[in-house]
Amino acid sequence: MDLGIQGKKAIVAGGSAGMGKATAFELARAGAELFISARREERLLAAVKDIQQQTGAKVTPIVADHATLKGRDALAAACPEPDIMVVTISPPPLVWDYNDISESDWHDSVDSGLVGPVELMKRFTKGMAERGWGRFVNIATVAAKEPLDMRMLSGPARSALANYTAVVSRQLAKHNVAINSVLPGMYATEGMLEVAAPHKAMIAEQYGDAAAEELTEEMVHKMTLDLFDIPTQTLGQPEDLAQFVALLCSQAAKFTIGQNFVLDGGMSRSIF
Ligand SMILES: NC(=O)c1ccc[n+]([C@@H]2O[C@H](COP(=O)([O-])OP(=O)(O)OC[C@H]3O[C@@H](n4cnc5c(N)ncnc54)[C@H](OP(=O)(O)O)[C@@H]3O)[C@@H](O)[C@H]2O)c1
Repeated sequence: MDLGIQGKKAIVAGGSAGMGKATAFELARAGAELFISARREERLLAAVKDIQQQTGAKVTPIVADHATLKGRDALAAACPEPDIMVVTISPPPLVWDYNDISESDWHDSVDSGLVGPVELMKRFTKGMAERGWGRFVNIATVAAKEPLDMRMLSGPARSALANYTAVVSRQLAKHNVAINSVLPGMYATEGMLEVAAPHKAMIAEQYGDAAAEELTEEMVHKMTLDLFDIPTQTLGQPEDLAQFVALLCSQAAKFTIGQNFVLDGGMSRSIF
């Protein structure tokens, strides 16, 4: 399918790993010029090289934390007039007891999961509207819609983001600017290992000391499958979600406005 985005400029904010990186690959394959950001330089540069080598696309790395004003300024300096913007972050820490969440945890969660995407939306969609074409996609979480105990630090900021996105997307729809969100369930990404690592004691209790000591991505993925009832009986692959996001960045998305798409292998049970 031709996405109709050949030559468009696309920023993937949070694009050196996981679903962001997979999305950058899809947009590059569709002919977009890429600008991808992350906080850690080494992995970012490796991702850029990978995408360039495999797709032949022009890809510019930007070391930036888009939860901060300085980071958002860096994105704007590198690509002031993007046609497409996809925003993601890393999964926030798991929480088992609400009493363990500190005030500063909330500030971090809101800065990265809400303020960052909101400010990027405000900054970049104005130009998209003036130019009469734009696509903006938040990669958020299914916990925005279906609260999950261990995701209580992740879901609330993203529920607020969905609320805000619903309003802004309707204001900009007449300018051929389509803003939407995808709400992933459990995906086999690098981020999962980082989220599991601080919980070694709990892992050791259930899977033994060896499993906790040599924690691998494969083991974390298996533990996640044990923990959640996912009808596909697999985790999602970042590429599956990325193809869906690329569609939301395409010409075909012009009549898809302010939607939240749950992509979770059927894990959550609501019908609308
Ligand atoms: N994986 C899952 O099972 C799962 C489940 C539910 C929801 N989600 C949601 O899906 C989204 C993507 O998760 P993922 O698993 O793909 O994550 P991931 O593998 O950790 O990748 C996240 C990417 O974003 C970058 N990043 C994170 N925070 C950033 C920031 N503040 N500024 C700039 N770059 C940033 C990371 O690089 P740096 O660390 O170098 O910045 C990395 O490139 C997240 O919103 C997560 O909450 C994931």
